[in-house]
Amino acid sequence: MAYGGSAGDQIHAYAFEKNATVVDLRSDTISKPSLAMRQAMLNAVVGDDVYEEDPTVKLLEEKAASLLDKEAALYVPSGTMGNLIAIMNHCNVRGSEAYCGDQSHTFLHEQGGAAQLAGVTLCTLPNNRDGTFDLKTLEGHMRSDRLHEPISKLVLIENTINGKILPQSWIDEVAVFVKKYNLRLHMDGARLWNASIGSGIAAKEIVRACDSVTFCLSKGLGAPIGSVLCGSKAFIQQARRTRKALGGGMRQVGVLAAAGLVALEQTIPILKEDHRRALWIAKSINNLRSKVFSVDLDTTKTNMIMVNVVSEEITAITFIDRLEIVVDDVEDDRTIVRGLQLTSCLARFVLYYEIDDQATEKALRKICYVIKKLDTQV
Ligand SMILES: Cc1ncc(COP(=O)(O)O)c(C=O)c1O
Repeated sequence: MAYGGSAGDQIHAYAFEKNATVVDLRSDTISKPSLAMRQAMLNAVVGDDVYEEDPTVKLLEEKAASLLDKEAALYVPSGTMGNLIAIMNHCNVRGSEAYCGDQSHTFLHEQGGAAQLAGVTLCTLPNNRDGTFDLKTLEGHMRSDRLHEPISKLVLIENTINGKILPQSWIDEVAVFVKKYNLRLHMDGARLWNASIGSGIAAKEIVRACDSVTFCLSKGLGAPIGSVLCGSKAFIQQARRTRKALGGGMRQVGVLAAAGLVALEQTIPILKEDHRRALWIAKSINNLRSKVFSVDLDTTKTNMIMVNVVSEEITAITFIDRLEIVVDDVEDDRTIVRGLQLTSCLARFVLYYEIDDQATEKALRKICYVIKKLDTQV
């Protein structure tokens, strides 16, 4: 995955030189805290959270637990730490094994923390197009209590996964499965609120069968940092210990939790705008009827647009690199659009609250301009 582009970190100097505007669609993690968040941070009442004396953190944790109908919650610095704590707590016997999709963030992008730090084997299942994995295949991986085998402990699911909302019927089937095999179920819900808004299903219903869930405040919700891990009282009590062991005990962190509270109150209701804009971009790309560039609309239900680039000559890298430069002296080319090339044939754009209709339109004009330049059949 490329995180930069041809103009790299100098992008703003380059944009100035070219009299161009930058629309950064690499990730919703790019989003900056809103004015309301900054004001809340300034006014936050704080205390030492390791002593559990920070009222703002407590408020955030109570609010999160209540929104997800779980007994308790814990504010953690990142989604990665939330997932790792869940793995460490659920897989509390040496030689444990956890199961997840082969496209999951935990497997691909968390540095193998499960193995590196928790001593847990991750067994991966091929993710289907819709983000699910086959439960018959999972069943085939269940361990018996043979001396030679690890101990089956945990199933990890991710929602949304690469912008896709897991079908609720499948989550229900996973819930039956974990019960049958006496496993635990954790949801990496970094973008749980996008799943909820996109599906119209209340977040607490989505996670009803999960023993634990992490959601992020720092992605599309716009807070500068932080995630919340939710579960039973006993689980969160243990999670608090594990967080401390990982160096995640924070002191007057209410200054950050305050932004998280604003995120829950103010950003969740406007996520639907990100979804609308993502669909707008996706449909506009498809309207070009390019044989090279296309978006699968079935899977564009939240804030991510995955563009397939199918060609011998043109790759997703060519596409992303061309979007970051200004070549022609025409208005449509004078926007620098930043995206990510996920593979040689897949590019990604992500919407978040600062990308308004005007910025979306600018980005879209550039995207269409570049597609027409690269695919001369359009
Ligand atoms: C699906 C998913 N899970 C977990 C994480 C990890 O979150 P963090 O960057 O806060 O560690 C990310 C980050 O992008 C993510 O996309």
